[in-house]
Amino acid sequence: MFPVALICTLLVVLVLQTHALFIPDTTSSDSSTAVDIPLFRRSYPQGVDDVKRTAEYLRAKYGYSATGEFLGITSPISIISGIANGTVPTYYGAISIGTPPQNFNVLLDTGSADLWLPSTPCACGNVTLYNSSSSSTYKTISSPSNGSITFAAGTVSGTIGNDTVSMGNFTVPQQSFLLVNQTNLGGGDVLPGLMGFAFQGLSFINATPFWQTIVSRGQLSVAEMSFYLARVLEQAASPTGVQPLTNPGGVLTLGGVNTSLYQGCIEFTNLTSSSTYWTIPIHNITVGSKNITLPYPLAAIDTGSPYIMGPLKQVQAIWAQVSGDDLGDGSFQLPCNTPSFQVTFSFGSSAWSIDSTDLLIPQYNNSAMCTGAIISLAGSNNNVNPSDSNSPSWVIGEPYLRNVYSVFRQSPPSVGFAQLSSAVIGGKSGNPGGSACAVRANAGARAIVWAPWSSIVVVVVTLLVM
Ligand SMILES: *[C@@H]1O[C@H](CO)[C@@H](O)[C@H](O)[C@H]1NC(C)=O
Ligand SMILES: *[C@@H]1O[C@H](CO)[C@@H](O)[C@H](O)[C@H]1NC(C)=O
Ligand SMILES: *[C@@H]1O[C@H](CO)[C@@H](O)[C@H](O)[C@H]1NC(C)=O
Ligand SMILES: *[C@@H]1O[C@H](CO)[C@@H](O)[C@H](O)[C@H]1NC(C)=O
Ligand SMILES: *[C@@H]1O[C@H](CO)[C@@H](O)[C@H](O)[C@H]1NC(C)=O
Ligand SMILES: *[C@@H]1O[C@H](CO)[C@@H](O)[C@H](O)[C@H]1NC(C)=O
Ligand SMILES: *[C@@H]1O[C@H](CO)[C@@H](O)[C@H](O)[C@H]1NC(C)=O
Ligand SMILES: *[C@@H]1O[C@H](CO)[C@@H](O)[C@H](O)[C@H]1NC(C)=O
Ligand SMILES: *[C@@H]1O[C@H](CO)[C@@H](O)[C@H](O)[C@H]1NC(C)=O
Ligand SMILES: *[C@@H]1O[C@H](CO)[C@@H](O)[C@H](O)[C@H]1NC(C)=O
Ligand SMILES: *[C@@H]1O[C@H](CO)[C@@H](O)[C@H](O)[C@H]1NC(C)=O
Ligand SMILES: *[C@@H]1O[C@H](CO)[C@@H](O)[C@H](O)[C@H]1NC(C)=O
Repeated sequence: MFPVALICTLLVVLVLQTHALFIPDTTSSDSSTAVDIPLFRRSYPQGVDDVKRTAEYLRAKYGYSATGEFLGITSPISIISGIANGTVPTYYGAISIGTPPQNFNVLLDTGSADLWLPSTPCACGNVTLYNSSSSSTYKTISSPSNGSITFAAGTVSGTIGNDTVSMGNFTVPQQSFLLVNQTNLGGGDVLPGLMGFAFQGLSFINATPFWQTIVSRGQLSVAEMSFYLARVLEQAASPTGVQPLTNPGGVLTLGGVNTSLYQGCIEFTNLTSSSTYWTIPIHNITVGSKNITLPYPLAAIDTGSPYIMGPLKQVQAIWAQVSGDDLGDGSFQLPCNTPSFQVTFSFGSSAWSIDSTDLLIPQYNNSAMCTGAIISLAGSNNNVNPSDSNSPSWVIGEPYLRNVYSVFRQSPPSVGFAQLSSAVIGGKSGNPGGSACAVRANAGARAIVWAPWSSIVVVVVTLLVM
């Protein structure tokens, strides 16, 4: 009798184990409740000075002073001064706020965590202003104690308020945000609105960001935000000044992924910390066959950065491979007709190549020289070594993100990349290097799990046979 019991037990165990192996991975799915938000990109023809100014904005955003010293603090000043002028060419999506709803296109920024809106009676340039008096759901929360936030290029004043904010069909009734009602920016400057998609720890007003609220209230069936950023390049030789938001710029999917936008698997890399930026380590960077050594590999994945920023030595090493001229302040110039070259960033076990057209920024005066889109985060300072180990040394912005499908996942906190679908890439080669696409970082979640009933069945079957 005993051997039969043993064999039966083993059989049951085998059957259950086979079942367990096929427990599906449900952590990322093309959920029917996922909602697509169309994106727009403002083209901003840039001169060398515009690139330098935007680079300064990004340094301040990540806590570096103009001289490259790491201060470790960011201030609202850096955000507002950077986006004023509309000089940050980046991706916009629609939100509505108030009752009845007032509609805005705001910059979508995974590198900050607040919602800012230009508000009446601001002289914020040719932008739509939010009017709190005409919203029945608006509540003033507080005014900055000294009434203003001062920054180098002017003064911004405002109030912190709450109102109903919607994006797609997701709504947060009491979202705290900053209403900018006064600036002393120049006549041609434009201050658009901005919505931050980073973590609450980065919020200047310590408000829960919109995306974290919809996640915590269970409005997303899958706690993911996925971006396809279309390749809309800066137009050289077009009129200077702020361009209208006419370029289709891709798709933000809230609550999962859109399977028609990517192919293959998504490789997730766990965040090193989930309190501020979306930070993951870069595995390696190669230019052609040259491997760039990375003493400080931590990178923030930032849809609100028009450039890739990194430590001076590594940025120099990258441009040295394609004879970029060092302009002495951490930015580089090279002929716009430089033959196509390949820069690859690897995360986890996948390597992603950047199309070299994404790395050359044309100038509005049609100069034969382009500015390189990989710039030193600390300017001419070599010493990018933030004392806070969670502070990124690299900022991975649009030039990289246009080449992949990117997924920002809340649990486990991670960023995933996948290859864009051929439909989306069109004729252009997205990732000639391709993705290794071998593993998903959440493989652990698929480990064989014994349901409690399985051991009961084993015991019962064993007893019956005996
Ligand atoms: C949003 O719309 C989708 C379908 O388009 C629907 O399945 C989902 O339930 C909606 N979500 C909310 C929060 O209304
Ligand atoms: C806006 O751009 C102009 C040059 O186009 C510059 O002089 C001015 O300082 C900029 N304003 C801000 C706030 O950066
Ligand atoms: C703001 O809304 C109030 C109330 O509807 C209205 O009286 C006022 O004119 C509006 N302000 C502007 C600048 O549109
Ligand atoms: C006003 O607030 C800003 C930002 O907190 C601060 O930098 C500045 O020193 C304050 N000004 C005064 C006069 O208190
Ligand atoms: C802007 O808001 C601040 C704080 O509420 C207020 O002190 C200031 O007068 C307002 N400015 C304008 C131009 O309305
Ligand atoms: C404003 O919104 C915050 C959440 O963003 C909430 O904690 C607070 O209670 C709200 N205040 C009011 C007066 O509704
Ligand atoms: C203001 O912006 C609107 C919409 O983008 C545009 O149609 C209009 O021409 C702009 N006006 C000026 C004076 O630039
Ligand atoms: C995915 O994106 C494509 C292209 O933008 C769109 O046509 C399709 O409706 C989207 N699918 C879903 C499920 O949202
Ligand atoms: C390439 O650089 C990365 C990052 O510094 C390093 O981990 C890796 O070992 C290097 N690979 C080779 C083949 O040198
Ligand atoms: C860079 O990383 C990728 C993916 O992990 C790997 O396939 C490749 O061999 C690495 N290259 C170097 C030079 O280390
Ligand atoms: C374009 O502007 C740059 C400075 O921003 C200057 O060095 C260059 O000579 C200009 N090129 C042309 C063709 O005007
Ligand atoms: C990522 O984090 C999850 C949850 O903490 C863990 O189960 C998984 O093993 C981690 N993945 C990797 C590749 O470390």
